[in-house]
Amino acid sequence: MIERIKNLLTEVDALNAANEEELEALRLKYLSKKGLVNQLMADFRNVPAEMKREVGMRINEAKTALQDRFNQLKAELATTEEDHSDLDLTRTPYPVMVGTRHPLSIVKQEIVDIFSRLGFSLADGPEVEDDWHVYGSMNFAEDHPARDMQDTFFVETHPDIILRSHTSSVQSRVMEKQQPPIRVICPGRVYRNEAISARAHCFFHQVEGLYIDKDVSFTDLKQVLLTFAREMFGPDTKIRLRPSYFPFTEPSAEMDISCNICGGEGCSFCKHTGWVEILGCGMVDPNVLEANGIDSTIYKGYAFGMGIERITNLKYQVKDLRMFSENDVRFLDEFMAAN
Ligand code: PHE
Repeated sequence: MIERIKNLLTEVDALNAANEEELEALRLKYLSKKGLVNQLMADFRNVPAEMKREVGMRINEAKTALQDRFNQLKAELATTEEDHSDLDLTRTPYPVMVGTRHPLSIVKQEIVDIFSRLGFSLADGPEVEDDWHVYGSMNFAEDHPARDMQDTFFVETHPDIILRSHTSSVQSRVMEKQQPPIRVICPGRVYRNEAISARAHCFFHQVEGLYIDKDVSFTDLKQVLLTFAREMFGPDTKIRLRPSYFPFTEPSAEMDISCNICGGEGCSFCKHTGWVEILGCGMVDPNVLEANGIDSTIYKGYAFGMGIERITNLKYQVKDLRMFSENDVRFLDEFMAAN
């Protein structure tokens, strides 16, 4: 009996299991009801009384050693499974889908880059504004029809609080904080209460520019805008300025560029005129400077404002404005190359 137990003990260290089945075979052979350990227990009855103590101790020793070894093998198997060592690491991975920047962001960034190179820095203001910053400080008279013209969204309970209808409000935000020289561009979202169609939306994006210093002239404005047009649409681009009206600039103009689709020849995009309008501009009205705490006898300035959607349309010929806000991935994916 002692001999059998000793033999069993020498086997213990050599026991191994490469997988669940082999482990189960070990359990059946040694630790199950009919296993070797239980057989020893059964034979224990026949052990002479004087030997019982020693034999009993040895059986227990063998049983514990087997149980420990079994638990150890089981744990080893479990960790190998967690290693996922059966995964096929040579298989081609799933394609990783990378998003694209929105076309309006791409074009906004391009506009910002061009003006940054010309020495302008970025400025920002709130989209939910008060009447003063959007209209009052921008020289709109109290009963000025432009307040209606711009289809303003009002907050019902606070008629003084509105959604800004142009980024010119940021001009005022900058001037009230900073004395000249001022050279800023302000990209941002604006809102107008328009019926949504292919050609109009209730929100869109503008970039405002403001330059204030001593001795600023209309020529400076013209040269900066010409440089911008050529950087944005190519070195052969021509510009033309048509007299216009804005309450906050005097004189005011609208700027056209030679149609970049037909090169000025005339096509359906430019309605066969060879020109397309891209922005409004002018010399800052002295009333605006004064209303915002800047001495108009010392300083002059120019300002301009353009729609980012308009510029994007010209660059990429997006026919329907709604495409910009519908987040259709098929549309957005088309700008993958421009990223
Ligand atoms: N705020 C004008 C608009 O929304 C654009 C503009 C800005 C015109 C600055 C002149 C100077 O149409």
